[in-house]
Amino acid sequence: MTKNILKHLAIIMDGNGRWAAERGLSRTKGHEKGAETIRAITTCCAKHPTVETTTFYAFSTENWKRPKFEVEFLMKLLNRYLQKELETYQSHNIRFQAIGDIEAFSKPLQDRIRNTEELTKYNTSLTQVLALNYGGRAEITSTVNTLIAQGRTTITEDDISQGLQTPYTDIDLLIRTSGEERISNFLLWQLSYSELYFTPTLWPDFTSKELKKIIENFEQRTRRFGGVK
Ligand code: FPP
Repeated sequence: MTKNILKHLAIIMDGNGRWAAERGLSRTKGHEKGAETIRAITTCCAKHPTVETTTFYAFSTENWKRPKFEVEFLMKLLNRYLQKELETYQSHNIRFQAIGDIEAFSKPLQDRIRNTEELTKYNTSLTQVLALNYGGRAEITSTVNTLIAQGRTTITEDDISQGLQTPYTDIDLLIRTSGEERISNFLLWQLSYSELYFTPTLWPDFTSKELKKIIENFEQRTRRFGGVK
């Protein structure tokens, strides 16, 4: 049996708050540790022979409902993360891209995001995509509205696939940490035929070792894409 090839991996990083609560720490400490996990998993993916893109759900359109203090902390953490990460992106040949409506963010943060995209755009070992103020329904709706504005009256599946913001739209494998088994409005169109993997591990505890085991599991699965095999 031929092995499945993992090109596009998507991750719902969940459990930062519970990780912190288990240790009697504030939720923000969980997010800080979670940011370190993003770094470790990204560099692991950059070294992987087949993975081309890794898309992380970093901030959803629903995350604005969190306490103001926590939202502000997440924004500052993202800014710090991108500032610090530039060196890693360049030394590991990683391209950074954002998806989602970042216009809701402060101007300096938007500039940081756009500059990081610009400075890393020729890097080729991996594309790290951060979904920021992202919602799957919003992405599909905005794609359709763009097509309508272009004067289209009939819209095909290919039109939508090509109009989405997400680079390399087909996702091969989605991992969600922390034991929750939901999609939570992430990449709804692109996940249509993805393999799903749910692990009880909380995101700050997730390691490259576990990722490698999950990839081995994915490689052995039978993927039928609606047909027979
Ligand atoms: C879910 O944990 C995590 C998020 C809000 C998204 C991921 C955010 C990070 C990994 C923080 C750092 C991000 C960047 C890009 C620097 P939760 O708070 O929902 O955990 P809980 O369900 O245990 O409360």
